[in-house]
Amino acid sequence: MIVDKSGSPLTATENIKPDTRHGVILYVEDVSVSFDGFKALNDLNLYINDGELRCLIGANGAGKTTLMDVITGKTRPDKGKVNFGQQIDLLKLDESEIAKAGIGRKFQKPTVFEALSVFENIELSLAGDKGILTSLFHKLSGEQRDRIGEILQTIGLMKEAYYPAGRLSHGQKQWLEIGMLLAAEPRVLLVDEPVAGMTGQETERTAELLTSLAGKHSVIVVEHDMAFVRSIARKVTVLHQGSVLAEGSMSEIQANPEVIKVYLGEDGGSAEKTVGAQA
Ligand SMILES: Nc1ncnc2c1ncn2[C@@H]1O[C@H](COP(=O)(O)OP(=O)(O)O)[C@@H](O)[C@H]1O
Ligand SMILES: [Mg+2]
Repeated sequence: MIVDKSGSPLTATENIKPDTRHGVILYVEDVSVSFDGFKALNDLNLYINDGELRCLIGANGAGKTTLMDVITGKTRPDKGKVNFGQQIDLLKLDESEIAKAGIGRKFQKPTVFEALSVFENIELSLAGDKGILTSLFHKLSGEQRDRIGEILQTIGLMKEAYYPAGRLSHGQKQWLEIGMLLAAEPRVLLVDEPVAGMTGQETERTAELLTSLAGKHSVIVVEHDMAFVRSIARKVTVLHQGSVLAEGSMSEIQANPEVIKVYLGEDGGSAEKTVGAQA
C-alpha cells in the first residue's frame, strides 16, 4: 500500500509524490527478469538521481528495453525492488498508475494524431483522462493556453502550432510526442532511441531539447548513436547481459577495459557502434 508522510493511504495516483530527499528518484535493486529461463535482466542495480540526464547503452539484447518495461510496469520482474523515490513501490502499481504517478515513456514510433494540429495534439494530452470530447468542446482556460504555449516553446514547434501533425517531419513528430508527454508533467521521462531516423540537424536539436529537460525532469535515454550520447551525456550506464557492466562519464566508459573487451570480444560491429569509432 502507498502511504503519505502521515501514514494515511493514498489512493489517487495523481497525488503520489516521490520522496527524493536522498537525491535519488528511481531505485532499481537486484532486479531479474527471465524469459523461458533466459535472464534478460540479471541482478541489475541502477540508481537515477533526481533531475539527471542518464544515457543507457549496450549491445542488442543487453536488456535495455526490458529495463524500461520493468520501470513502466509492462513487465514484472521475478525478483528485486523498483522504487519511485524512497517510498513508492512501483511493483505494486499497474502500467497506467505508474504513468499517472509521473513516469512517462516515449516509444520509438510516434503516435501523434496526424489530422489534428500540433496545438490540438498537446491540448488532448493536457486533458489526459478527461478525454477527447471534454477537451475539444470546452474552452481552454488562459492557464491551459499558457501551458500549451510553454510546451510548444520547449519543443521548438511554435511556428508549426496550427499545422496538421501529419505534415511534420519525422524529427518534429518525435518532439511533438515529447511535448505530449510533458503535458502530464512527468518527474521521469524514458526515451528509447530518440534520434533513430533523424537528420543531423534534428539530432542536434534533440540533444538540446533533452538537455533542457534535465533538471526539472529526470531523463533516461537509450541510444545507439554514440556521437549523440557523447553530446548529451553526463553519466552513461553500460548494460551487458542484463547487468550493469560500467557506469561513468563517456570518456571513462570508453577507456574502461571491460567495456572494450566485452564489445570487442563479442562482435566488432557492435564494438564500433557501442564504444565509439574513436576507440
Ligand atoms: N518477451 C520476450 N520473450 C522472450 N525473450 C525476450 C522478450 N523480451 C526480450 N527478450 C530477450 O531478452 C533479451 C534482452 O532484450 P531487450 O531488453 O529487448 O534488449 P535491448 O533492448 O538491450 O536490445 C534479448 O535476448 C531478448 O531476445
Ligand atoms: Mg531495445
